[in-house]
Amino acid sequence: MNEDIPELPNHEQSTLDAAFTSLSGSVSRSASELDQEAFRLHWLGRKQGRLKLISEAWLKSAPPEAKKALGIRFNQLKQQIEAVLETPTSAPKAPAEQGIDITLPGTLRAPGIPHPLLKTMHEIVQVFHHLGYSTNLGPQVESDFYNFEALNFPPNHPARDTPDTLVIAAQQTRPSRDRLLMRTHTSPVQIRTMIAQAPPIRIVIPGKVHRNDAADATHSPIFHQVEGLCVDTNITFSDLKGTLDHAMKALFGSDVKTRFFPSFFPFTEPSADVQISCIFCGGKGCRKCKHSGWIELLGCGMVDPAVFAAVTAERRKTDPSDDVYNPEKITGFAFGMGVERIAMVQHGISDIGHFYSGDMRFLEQFA
Ligand code: PHE
Repeated sequence: MNEDIPELPNHEQSTLDAAFTSLSGSVSRSASELDQEAFRLHWLGRKQGRLKLISEAWLKSAPPEAKKALGIRFNQLKQQIEAVLETPTSAPKAPAEQGIDITLPGTLRAPGIPHPLLKTMHEIVQVFHHLGYSTNLGPQVESDFYNFEALNFPPNHPARDTPDTLVIAAQQTRPSRDRLLMRTHTSPVQIRTMIAQAPPIRIVIPGKVHRNDAADATHSPIFHQVEGLCVDTNITFSDLKGTLDHAMKALFGSDVKTRFFPSFFPFTEPSADVQISCIFCGGKGCRKCKHSGWIELLGCGMVDPAVFAAVTAERRKTDPSDDVYNPEKITGFAFGMGVERIAMVQHGISDIGHFYSGDMRFLEQFA
């Protein structure tokens, strides 16, 4: 609406008549085009109002004898403008008049779904909830003590070095057990739970973990695990086998077989890797199972007595006679699985990167 100020060629009556007829026309036109407030600003605005700009321009250049005639006409124009402002605004326009077709379907909003990783994490946790486990969580920024020392990692274990572990800066002046790092597994929450709680314990620990790994089709520096810990009297390796066999059948179907392969973790003894019969070829051998018929899914083992000893030493700081984690009286098992790995096998996904890409074409498949 930034129109120029019209020119007034001379001050003859007929010229003035024509000029004001034209102005009156634009008042009427803008009255129908603008809403009331915009119309008021357009004509009567204190700084940029057209009435003020035009009258100033025309009166300034007018010879004294033409000023009266101009003044009368500007008054009439002002009355016309005020009359428009006094007429009550018409009722809001009906949708059809505004060019809206109310019979068209509305804009559909996607309701949102749990991310496939969270879905799988929830499924795993659920399987153990049904077995009477409860859930525990722990911090992602962890100390060397909980992440390594109490879990029986020797002081010079390679996992403690920066090529494997993302450490928090400026920790060198602290005693080694207090140095902070991004937890490399959910196992430190085993320690936190046992220090806080006496047996019996049955917990699952879902959460984010961090490793100094380059991203590729099967690795990501941030990923998710679900840890499990069961401590009670008379817990044996066959309890561990039965529990994980049940969990794998619950996750992958009752016809999968499980196989326990000797392995090593500093905090379990004996330790095992759990493999399931390949769900893609039924165990015959295919590209997905590298023609072995088996897919490796998780680590597990019986809690190492050295872990119970570390827990007991901590508990004795508050109660010197504490002996509830005496390995002569109780035993336990622990396991840890990668959520990404399980979800990739469940859905036949070959690149871990899809989970983090935020690509709706990928995510929508899990709606
Ligand atoms: N913390 C081990 C890992 O991250 C997994 C594990 C958990 C193994 C519990 C045994 C018992 O690889």
